Amino acid sequence: MIQVLFLCLGNICRSPMAEAVFRHHVKEKGLQDKFMIDSAGTASWHEGKLPHEGTRAILEQYNISYAGMNARQVKQSDGKTFDYIVSMDDQNIKDLKQLLKGNYESKLVKLTDFLTDNKEENVPDPYYTGDFDYTYELVNEGTKNLLDYILTEYHIH
Ligand code: 4NP
Repeated sequence: MIQVLFLCLGNICRSPMAEAVFRHHVKEKGLQDKFMIDSAGTASWHEGKLPHEGTRAILEQYNISYAGMNARQVKQSDGKTFDYIVSMDDQNIKDLKQLLKGNYESKLVKLTDFLTDNKEENVPDPYYTGDFDYTYELVNEGTKNLLDYILTEYHIH
């Protein structure tokens, strides 16, 4: 199993969107048995909650399931469990590095590293911008390219 964790601040807007969209890309390739996919937030504020209504609305618009998804806070053991921890912004990485105390840093990537043309340094947070469409656009492109990158690393075609 290839284990992929998406990380943001609250785990209600960006990382659940990325989790659901990445899972959708994986399913489209028929590779769901090869992956374990999850998301978490650096903060605990929204533990147990559904994705934000804006994230739910855009996932529904694209017929992408968010069934069974509830917010949780990232924990130290996630560093050991997951093969890739995909952050939405630099602050997430900073906070995660602090939690992991210098361990597992080679597993840490940022979703924007998988966008073409260096479009953005960080995935804009629609909790503040209100623009779920633009965040979806970036998440869709980033997760698609991330999947190709992982499949290449694992020699899966
Ligand atoms: P997310 O967005 O990190 O993309 O889930 C946020 C969600 C909630 C809050 C901030 C950002 N908040 O302050 O509650």
